Amino acid sequence: MTTARAHTNIALLKYWGKKNTELILPYNDSISLTLDHFYTDTTVDFVSSLTDDEILVDDQPLTGSGLKRAKRVLNLIREQSGIQENASVHSTNHVPTTAGLASSASAFAALAAAGSKAAGLDLSDKELSILARHGSGSASRSIFGGFVQWHTGHDSQSSYAQSIQSAVDWDINLITALVDTKKKKVSSTMGMQAVVKTSPFFPAWVKSAQADVEPMKTAILNKNLANLGTIAENNAMRMHATTFGAVPNFTYFQPQTLAILDAVRNIRKLGVECYSTVDAGPNVKIICASSNNELIMDKLATIINRNQLLVCKPGPGIKYL
Ligand code: DP6
Repeated sequence: MTTARAHTNIALLKYWGKKNTELILPYNDSISLTLDHFYTDTTVDFVSSLTDDEILVDDQPLTGSGLKRAKRVLNLIREQSGIQENASVHSTNHVPTTAGLASSASAFAALAAAGSKAAGLDLSDKELSILARHGSGSASRSIFGGFVQWHTGHDSQSSYAQSIQSAVDWDINLITALVDTKKKKVSSTMGMQAVVKTSPFFPAWVKSAQADVEPMKTAILNKNLANLGTIAENNAMRMHATTFGAVPNFTYFQPQTLAILDAVRNIRKLGVECYSTVDAGPNVKIICASSNNELIMDKLATIINRNQLLVCKPGPGIKYL
């Protein structure tokens, strides 16, 4: 029996669109920061008496596409290890689920790590990343701590994440504004498929997202918050632009999302470095230095309750408990 802990990550350059939906191969590279605040603990045991995999998430049986994906990861582990038994999986999320806070990232990273170890495999981080990717694309990045790049690749073995900077020894924080923690109407999987198929803006998105990779890496390595934040905010807005161009059109933004985006631009005009990013949900994450956390949260308190603002710091990679 093995328990692993994986932390969520926030994409600074988004993964948004699959060129291969079966293997979960993205159209463009993405870059993320792993966070300390939100994580998933998963325990896996392979048990001969079980007639099927038994998967509980927060004490509830997993169903639907989540179950299908978890079984896909478990089947790959059985294939690689030669183990025949069914798995007992217990997963606890310390993340507001399906609210654009990427609980699937920490969930499938923890499953890949705990499952492979429980099956007696001793996988490298690269192999774990490939395995986790089969559950959810963003999970490929949650194997690593700090700043991480997921390489697009051209097949399953070449599409994996890699550390850019695992120990983040400079001041970067992320304030999460929890606009709405209810389950979103359009999942990231559905949303990105819709834009791939119908949005005329999609090819332009892929081109500009790939062009962001080298400047973003340079900003990270130079510890340049202003450049990092500017590139991340523009990247996020371009990702969301694809949804406006989809048929039928849709958006993850809610009125409060727009109000916060506007507030962040206004705070920036006062000379405070802060930048927004938004995933496939209404919540806004604000990139800033810790010295500005209080000032930014005070300003945002006119729009959103103070208890809906959470400060995150860079977090670690996979841990076995
Ligand atoms: C907007 O990894 O949840 O958060 O691979 O279909 O499970 P699937 O999608 P998922 O998508 C994440 C999309 C995003 C951007 C990102 O994290 O890079």
